[in-house]
Amino acid sequence: MKRIDRFPLGAHVRLSDLAIDPYPIFAGLREEEPVTWVPEIQRWFLTRRDDMLAVLRDPNLFTTDAPSTIRDMFGVHMMTTEGPTQIRYKRKCLPPFHASRLRSASLPLLRTEVERLVEGLRSDNRRTGEVRTTVARPVALHSVLSVLGIPLSETERVNEWYEHFARALANFAGDPDLRAEGKGAADAFGRALEPIIEALERDPDGSLLSDLVCDHVDPLTAEEIRSNALIILFGGIETTESMIANAAWALLSHPEQLGTARSSREALDLAIEETLRWEPAVQSAARQATRDTEIRGVPIAQGEVVHCMLGAANRDPSHFEDPDRFDVSRANAGDHLSFAVGRHFCLGAPLARLETRVVLETLWARCPGLRLDPERTNAPYGYEFRKPPAVWVEWDV
Ligand code: HEM
Repeated sequence: MKRIDRFPLGAHVRLSDLAIDPYPIFAGLREEEPVTWVPEIQRWFLTRRDDMLAVLRDPNLFTTDAPSTIRDMFGVHMMTTEGPTQIRYKRKCLPPFHASRLRSASLPLLRTEVERLVEGLRSDNRRTGEVRTTVARPVALHSVLSVLGIPLSETERVNEWYEHFARALANFAGDPDLRAEGKGAADAFGRALEPIIEALERDPDGSLLSDLVCDHVDPLTAEEIRSNALIILFGGIETTESMIANAAWALLSHPEQLGTARSSREALDLAIEETLRWEPAVQSAARQATRDTEIRGVPIAQGEVVHCMLGAANRDPSHFEDPDRFDVSRANAGDHLSFAVGRHFCLGAPLARLETRVVLETLWARCPGLRLDPERTNAPYGYEFRKPPAVWVEWDV
């Protein structure tokens, strides 16, 4: 039987529909075809949370260590390796992302930057502004550059390179020009890194790049540093911008729940987990089968790519009660898979959570009566990275 006949729902999945509203499509797949073939991108989709946990926790059978656009562009790094190599890269890069180090080294800078950006938002006295481009994107860039130790004077260039990377990665059709564009931007980043690294060797500043170049115990090579810096940089920009924008949009679209979300620090942290569950910024984690296998009796051939649809896992009714309901008090909201699970669990999750909390706290403190602008609200959009095109807000004084 042809795949297209065996998986009729999968045959009708279109990325353009997922971009608008993936959740009803996921619900149908989860119920009828939890393991399905999507001809439009020639890949498997999983929509049940348990299946995704099994795949993401089995790197021997489902690997990231395979040809991919992200490897073509950035080289070999923690996201495209498995086993001891991946563990070594990740261990070397983890320290600045530990909660205690973030509190001492990153939080004061982050607060100052967010205050500055929110002041900018308020500065034209019209009591209305757009949060995604004026606050979320700049704070994401500022934070990841600071942690890495890349001078903030590079912000504009990094922003431009990022756009090339993003276009190349969204290029499921394999357009060689877009690939070349992404590779060119990654090479330009590598060249820009050389003088930065030389300066850090002379004058270490405690940043991640500084720690990596001054490391004398089993140090990473210059190439390994470049590749891992690239994945951290790439991983930390649009994802966090989207997470902040989604969180602001989700919370402000449920004004009746704001009192609960703001009642304590713990309540806000839980509410942020619920925004992550309900509208994850990254919608899938892809793995390649290392040998012929099967999932739920469906044969998967060696070399085929399986997409774990994280937004579908987060609304699996077998784990989350009434999963489409947004509920800031949901006790198990933190069981979402928005940062994936297993060895490739997001390196930047603690920083992204901190950035989101500081942005929300600052907006509420500086913009009393903060609410969505009823004339200009925009719902999240996108099949891979998902975020509102804009989050227009207004406030009272
Ligand atoms: C400071 C911000 C961030 C940084 C620096 C960052 C960096 C990274 C890195 C380096 C990895 C690869 C880890 C590994 O392979 O071991 C990763 C994985 C991942 N990140 Fe992040 N990230 C950030 C924010 C986010 C946000 C906001 C989201 C979504 C809400 C996200 C979702 C993911 C997912 C789903 C993976 C796993 C992908 C997979 O397993 O295929 N990240 N991140």
